[in-house]
Amino acid sequence: MASSLLLAAARSSRLRDVLTALPPTRSVVDRFVAGDDLDAALAAVRALTGNGLRVTLDHLGEDTTDLARACAVRDAYLLLFDRLAAEGLADGAEASVKLSALGQALPGDGASVALDNALAVASAADRCGMTVTLDMEDHTTVDSTLGILGKIRADFPATGVALQAMLRRTEGDLRDLVHEGSRVRLVKGAYAEPASVAYQAKGEVDRAYVRALRLLMDGAGYPMVASHDPRMIAVATGLAARAGRSAGDHEFQMLYGIRVGEQRRLAASGATMRVYVPYGADWYGYFMRRLAERPANLAFFLRSFVSR
Ligand code: FDA
Repeated sequence: MASSLLLAAARSSRLRDVLTALPPTRSVVDRFVAGDDLDAALAAVRALTGNGLRVTLDHLGEDTTDLARACAVRDAYLLLFDRLAAEGLADGAEASVKLSALGQALPGDGASVALDNALAVASAADRCGMTVTLDMEDHTTVDSTLGILGKIRADFPATGVALQAMLRRTEGDLRDLVHEGSRVRLVKGAYAEPASVAYQAKGEVDRAYVRALRLLMDGAGYPMVASHDPRMIAVATGLAARAGRSAGDHEFQMLYGIRVGEQRRLAASGATMRVYVPYGADWYGYFMRRLAERPANLAFFLRSFVSR
């Protein structure tokens, strides 16, 4: 219940204006977001890579309905790549991109604006030896996102995509994406979705995640196991070993600030461990989804107001 209210709130611009203006919000946001600007993101990258972790950087933003803002997000990624390359941090790094931040939701030709912007991002990433993965947003965007992925992959075949186990369609989508060279990030799914398209019970979502893991690990592509759930990590580790996959043939991913000890433990065990590092001023939607995922985060957030 609290979780669906928070997910609805994640899309309220009125609540966004109120919450982002309150000082206590900031201290809680810092737990999940590397910072408002590129310098803060680079500091986080230096710290994480210094501990043997890889990174994927997300310039925060979503649901853009303004062409100039969509192009500004594209340019922010280009600047990010320049700085990473100049500081010797690009090697092995990745960018995570939300197509709705690049214009997908613009009326009329949104999909082609997002495609052009995503191509510019993928091309710039490729020039400095980086890859791009497309985040997956709510279920209404999946067809468009997979269509755009196919077009980007024609020129930049290493481009990956996130698929959400909670969506009933995902096993079918996955069967089309387990071919050689394909990179798929498997997540449970962070959006409020209707029962007509998505499993609702946690047990159902977890079982769907395991089925998808089997397809990924037995396929010919590169699985990116994005979960903090110890059971999913254990199942993925077992399936990878059974499929004869080494640390270079798959990777684990977790979000910045979540289960940091486990991130380090996996990296120290020899696994490839990548941390999703969000940065930028437009953190509201991302932050609210993190609150929705765990009731304890909401309590922590509310306590920060009381303890001031
Ligand atoms: P689950 O929610 O069952 O959590 C398992 C355990 O992890 C919890 O018991 C808790 O210990 C810890 N945990 C999980 N979430 C936490 C939180 N917010 N705060 C503190 N602890 C937490 N979704 C999407 O729809 N599209 C996308 O593109 C992406 N991209 C993405 C990238 C990466 C690298 C990750 C790790 C996740 C995503 N997600 C996503 C989010 C994903 O769909 C999902 O909502 C979260 O990962 C939470 O699900 P878990 O698999 O961690 O399991």
